[in-house]
Amino acid sequence: MTDKAVLGLSWVELGRPKLSPRALYGRYAVVFFYPRAGSPGCTREVQDFRDRYLQFRSLGAEVLGVSPDPLAAVEEFAKAQGIPFPLLSDSELALARAFGLGGGRRIPRSTFLLDRGGVVRRAWLRVRVDGHADEVLKALEAVRAADLEVNPLVGVRRAHRALAAEPVPRQELEKLVEAAHLAPSCFNNQPWRFVVVTGENLTKVKGALPGGNYWAQAAPAVIAVASHRDLDCKLSDNRDYFLLGCGMAVGFLMIQATQMGLIAHPIAGYDPIAVKKALNIPEDYVLITLVVVGKPGDPATLSEKHREIELGLRDRKPLTSVLFWEQMPRTEAK
Ligand SMILES: Cc1cc2nc3c(=O)[nH]c(=O)nc-3n(C[C@H](O)[C@H](O)[C@H](O)COP(=O)(O)O)c2cc1C
Repeated sequence: MTDKAVLGLSWVELGRPKLSPRALYGRYAVVFFYPRAGSPGCTREVQDFRDRYLQFRSLGAEVLGVSPDPLAAVEEFAKAQGIPFPLLSDSELALARAFGLGGGRRIPRSTFLLDRGGVVRRAWLRVRVDGHADEVLKALEAVRAADLEVNPLVGVRRAHRALAAEPVPRQELEKLVEAAHLAPSCFNNQPWRFVVVTGENLTKVKGALPGGNYWAQAAPAVIAVASHRDLDCKLSDNRDYFLLGCGMAVGFLMIQATQMGLIAHPIAGYDPIAVKKALNIPEDYVLITLVVVGKPGDPATLSEKHREIELGLRDRKPLTSVLFWEQMPRTEAK
């Protein structure tokens, strides 16, 4: 199994003929490695994938066969067998290495099922051809069904308050901002500005928190999110988009933090003037939120009310009170 479960899409370019990552964008990928074009087992395997290709396609997947044969041999094999999907030549074994299939000149028969994010969701090593394509099809159905549920990171993210005093490494804090910076924005204006505070200014920031946010005193880091309305689109009907842009960026940051096992809790409860002064944020900027960052700590450090929230189920209005189809109901109008 590959030690890199997240391959992204760049591996697509490693075989020959070169495929563009665009070809796989938004699709699942079934990548099957076979040892030798034209051998009886490999012929049966490509035929099995060929005969189920429409089913794979209808489930949103592309199929790719890979072998170490030279390109001419692969092309001949594809033609002889009427293969409708790409067969790639991996004569340098670059693709095999990317999937963690190291070793000699022989590629072991193995198959990988990657999701739309380039994450390996299933891997089959030492594949036996009989029934294999059907098994992969079944696995694809299961992965697809799971992906039609709410994203697990969105589902488990919480505004937790119990923080450990342990510091968060600088690279991890930077990774949070890197994810935030990938958010969309009006005209790609990127109106967000982040000030990451871990040093002596952290004491000043903590001094600007009210008693209700006592729990944030334990935080090893705070990320201040600031912007100005001139940094983004200003459209009719009061549509100032800088706040939306920053909101989306903070959303991305929180999901990234959840993936990394960190708490990233946005707060509005602070003295904005004092924090702006401490962090040298211009007066005319809006300090939209402070994101309190840390590793999960002991809920026993929280007040009873917060402990209950921390350990309790998530509280949401029913979906029917926020989701309307086609028109807003009259009762919503002010
Ligand atoms: C803009 C904003 C401001 C918030 N301010 C505070 C705050 O000052 N103190 C606090 O304890 N939680 C604060 N929260 C956290 C919310 O209370 C929390 O997100 C909400 O109760 C939903 O819980 P959940 O995030 O666990 O689903 C804030 C959240 C947002 C998005």
